[in-house]
Amino acid sequence: MRTRYERIAWLIGAYREPKERFKGAEMQEFSVLKNAWLETENGRVLDFGTMESFPAGHTDEVVDCTGRVLMPAFVDSHTHIVFARWRESEFVDRIGGLSYEEIAQKGGGILNSALALADADPSRLLDDAYARVEAMMAQGTAALEIKSGYGLSEASELKMLRVIRDLKERAPIPIKSSFLGAHAVPLAYKNDRAGYVDLLIDRILPQIAAEGLADYMDVFCDRGFFTVPETDRLLEAGWKHGLRPKIHANELDFSGGVQVGVRHNALSVDHLECMGEAEIQTLLGTETMPTLLPGTAFFLGLHPPPARTLIDSGLGVALASDYNPGSSPSGSMPFVLALGCVLLKMKPIETFAAATLNGAYALELQSELGTLSPGKRAALVLSKPVSSPDFLCYAYTEPWIERVELGRALPTK
Ligand code: NIG
Ligand code: FE
Repeated sequence: MRTRYERIAWLIGAYREPKERFKGAEMQEFSVLKNAWLETENGRVLDFGTMESFPAGHTDEVVDCTGRVLMPAFVDSHTHIVFARWRESEFVDRIGGLSYEEIAQKGGGILNSALALADADPSRLLDDAYARVEAMMAQGTAALEIKSGYGLSEASELKMLRVIRDLKERAPIPIKSSFLGAHAVPLAYKNDRAGYVDLLIDRILPQIAAEGLADYMDVFCDRGFFTVPETDRLLEAGWKHGLRPKIHANELDFSGGVQVGVRHNALSVDHLECMGEAEIQTLLGTETMPTLLPGTAFFLGLHPPPARTLIDSGLGVALASDYNPGSSPSGSMPFVLALGCVLLKMKPIETFAAATLNGAYALELQSELGTLSPGKRAALVLSKPVSSPDFLCYAYTEPWIERVELGRALPTK
């Protein structure tokens, strides 16, 4: 099956040469080709160009893209979409004046999700999470990461990770999993934090590794959750089982999370509401992708991460949804793009690079996704007719997506 997208008003993120990620000022240079075409075959990109060099030859389907944007599909590199129930009562409590941390200290928050998950039937968890994946795909997401961390016990963490394993099998798109046993200290270990860290390291991690249930190691390294020394121990143990860190850092405080993440060569450090010069200097020149989750800052009313300072200092950033029932009950990447502009002061083109190629880098999928390049997956989003690409970020409730293609993996020989 060969498809030719013709007369594309703006073809975004098309490259012939491989791209790893964009940093600093490069993010504004994410390519925009006007009046272009792009051909795909069996879910892979074949070629592209401008309409002056229109390809001859047979095609099975022609898509007229007059007035439309065609761009790479989104890679959502940070979600928690396996959960047993929503938490809108905490939302109402926050409207009434409680903070996210106060709710957590009262046994709400993550512990509330863990209570519900302990009783949940895995097949229902799977169906509910799959419905979320389908809704995300319809909004242009062509790969995602999912974390455990609503288990907080041996049985429940393994149950969650097996649900994620089953989702990987069911979904037509790449899914990566992260072990986030260190998401909160469960009530049973309230007075024995070290005991909980031991349980994660000595009992749960080896089983996860033996079953191949996780791709990455995560820790919520922040005030009121896990300390730097605890994070150090956990990340070292993860590496022993081949799990590279992708961690929650600096959401609630200058927690040292960025530094401990970089010290362990984290693939990404995520959240980053609290960032100063020391954190920026720590990240420059490393392989770690700073990942910003503006949906969380928006929903919890946090001070937004200083995206402009990070980018102007030469760092690349990825944008992700953080989809979860407590701090970000939305998996809409189009909304994340809008928040990237409105809250983080990113330019629309920078948000496109952050939600595609840089997100793909944060899941080690940049050779398959993130740009529209010959040989890569034809995972793409086509807009309705719009006045300019900026419109996609500006009209933030407009359903501007006309068509989503998820692309295909290369056939295994
Ligand atoms: O990324 N910050 C830590 N964890 C999640 C929230 C989890 C929850 O509240 O359920 C987050 O925001
Ligand atoms: Fe998160």
